[in-house]
Amino acid sequence: MLSIGDIIFNNTKLILAPMDDVTDLPFRTICKELGADITVSEFIAADALIRDVEKTKQKILSGKNENPFGIQLFGNEKESMCKAAQIIESYQPDFIDINWGCPARKIASKGAGSGMLKNIPLLLEITKEIIKSVHLPVTVKTRLGYDENNKCIVELCEQLQDIGVKAISIHGRTKSQMFKGESDWTLIGKVKANPNMEIPIIGNGDINSAQKAYQMREFHKVDAIMIGRAAIGNPWIFKECRQKLDYNTNMQTPTIEERVRICKKHLLLTLEHKGEGVGLLEMRKHYKPYFKGINEFKPYRIKLLTTNDVNELMDTLDEINCKFN
Ligand SMILES: Cc1cc2nc3c(=O)[nH]c(=O)nc-3n(C[C@H](O)[C@H](O)[C@H](O)COP(=O)(O)O)c2cc1C
Repeated sequence: MLSIGDIIFNNTKLILAPMDDVTDLPFRTICKELGADITVSEFIAADALIRDVEKTKQKILSGKNENPFGIQLFGNEKESMCKAAQIIESYQPDFIDINWGCPARKIASKGAGSGMLKNIPLLLEITKEIIKSVHLPVTVKTRLGYDENNKCIVELCEQLQDIGVKAISIHGRTKSQMFKGESDWTLIGKVKANPNMEIPIIGNGDINSAQKAYQMREFHKVDAIMIGRAAIGNPWIFKECRQKLDYNTNMQTPTIEERVRICKKHLLLTLEHKGEGVGLLEMRKHYKPYFKGINEFKPYRIKLLTTNDVNELMDTLDEINCKFN
């Protein structure tokens, strides 16, 4: 049976994609409650962790019942990444994920994230050293390749497996594509179909419905599906996917009452974890997605985005429930 350490892949696992500034502990708790099998931290900068930056340390904390849980690391340099991996190990996550996929200019231009796809020998060398420096399973998240002419993923996955990587998440775009175009799952399927591959292959990119998750699993036979943007405002997507993948049946979309319930819970968890000042501000990016598609919602949205008082926010959420339910 495929596994990452103790995590056994006895069915198609559903994984919440790491998203900087989104998949913090409160949001991961919500996604876990609604069916995400595995969660991963936001990416952690190796240098910041070594410098003991408080905000970075906050990002590695996991919830009481949050397992399996992985901590994702990024960097561009062997020594600091190994040292950071050892610090991460002391927090006892289930695995360490290395980010060789982020295309953001400020990261990739320094050779971190998908910038390293330009230098595969160094990517392999650093990954190998990290594996040697910790006892935890090490996984990798990456893209199809650097650009259209360098889609090296099939060969790269074999090389990563050979040096001891325990699973690979593949976002079906190149570094050059950033988030443009459509995620191409055919190469992800090709990696999975490679008879030399023995580790779990996790497909990622543009899964925005249970139907799409089902199709990609059926066509490309991936061992797990990773969902990012579509979970923002719709964490129920994990339950919907589970039902579709296991029984090929569809779930009802969540009622307004349910949306309000989860949004309130998310807000309270955020306030508890980040304090009122930061928490109130950070929750603002979630309100619009939670209540997407409701007609004449604008006045409520404005209230949610301008209120700095927790009781008033709770009252507004109750009003939304009464008005639109
Ligand atoms: C706001 C945002 C932040 C992201 N941060 C990370 C990150 O920290 N680490 C990472 O590996 N990928 C990150 N990604 C990429 C996602 O994990 C995922 O690969 C990508 O969004 C494609 O999946 P999706 O179509 O399901 O969203 C981020 C994406 C978004 C939209």
